[in-house]
Amino acid sequence: MFVYPGWGRSGLVGWGAQMPETVAAAAERSPLRVLVAGSSGFIGRRLCPALEDAGYAVRAMTRCPDAYRGSGEVVKGDVHDPHSLRAALTGCDAAYYLVHSLADADFARRDAEAARTFARAAAEVGLSRIIYLGGLGDDADDLSAHLRSRREVEGLLGSAGVPVTTLRAGIIVGYGGISWEIARQLVEHLPVMVTPSWVRTRTQPIALADVVRYLLGVIEVPATVARAFDIGGPEVLAYVDMLRRVAAIEGRPLLVLPVPFLSPRLSSLWLSLVTNVDVQTGRSLIDSMTNEVVVRDDSIRGLVPFEPMDFDDAVLQALGERVKARRAP
Ligand SMILES: NC(=O)c1ccc[n+]([C@@H]2O[C@H](COP(=O)([O-])OP(=O)(O)OC[C@H]3O[C@@H](n4cnc5c(N)ncnc54)[C@H](OP(=O)(O)O)[C@@H]3O)[C@@H](O)[C@H]2O)c1
Repeated sequence: MFVYPGWGRSGLVGWGAQMPETVAAAAERSPLRVLVAGSSGFIGRRLCPALEDAGYAVRAMTRCPDAYRGSGEVVKGDVHDPHSLRAALTGCDAAYYLVHSLADADFARRDAEAARTFARAAAEVGLSRIIYLGGLGDDADDLSAHLRSRREVEGLLGSAGVPVTTLRAGIIVGYGGISWEIARQLVEHLPVMVTPSWVRTRTQPIALADVVRYLLGVIEVPATVARAFDIGGPEVLAYVDMLRRVAAIEGRPLLVLPVPFLSPRLSSLWLSLVTNVDVQTGRSLIDSMTNEVVVRDDSIRGLVPFEPMDFDDAVLQALGERVKARRAP
């Protein structure tokens, strides 16, 4: 029997609540089982405990189960290995897809292949839905290879017929997030920055806690199935203003000097010298900084309503979490 995934803590929210036989089936199988692909990552580490708190049975997928220390039942799985995916997904009702291979020079091909493989395995085991966290950016724009690839993954995840909900985010402000950590390290390491002209591109950063809230919210709302949504914080900021705001919060001096002659290659080499990002990832992210990443359609606000955190609070929370993590034994 098909159980539509408009689930809540008991699996009874949404369409299921109007269909007595489905409710009974859902209740029998409760709590609903959700696979998180990318459970060990920046987002997955926070999403897994939030799902458990909300009453879901979490299956945390990683390539290295022995190293996994997070929430949920750990399961080994590689998005390039269909056999491992079928085993990991069997018995699950839904899956979150939080995987990318940005550090790989061939990331677009690898991420496309992985999404196709995941889509097929999900269809084979009868998964009801996939929830994917991708990237903001306007299709009409000349999108960077990274943002194009994130967009391509949306379509490929749905290519075998399992409905996909996509949340598209720009910079996610939270301890350990690659883009946020680059911003933080730039501010902390350089009182004077010579930057390419992309520092004036606009972005709409969002707090990590709010991303988790949206990821959790959409699984509860049937109207979000098979749709893509933009998510962002309350403020649209140029990258340069974002850096200035971080510097002000940290009480650090910052002089930004935009120059026209810094190529993406030079910028990424320079980024890898002053931050801990690798050259390949730095290059992909820098290429994306010429694309405006702002919310164009805020319909998610009507379906998962709450007030997103403002930028300064998101920064304070990210800095606080970093301090806590460094103090931990
Ligand atoms: N971070 C941001 O600011 C940001 C902004 C917008 C959108 N997003 C999106 O959010 C999603 C998650 O990003 P993140 O920042 O959490 O990434 P992350 O911290 O780099 O984590 C990546 C995850 O992917 C998993 N992974 C990589 N290759 C895999 C493979 N072959 N098989 C199975 N798992 C694999 C890793 O797990 P193991 O190594 O344990 O296997 C890891 O848990 C991505 O789709 C990204 O585009 C992130």
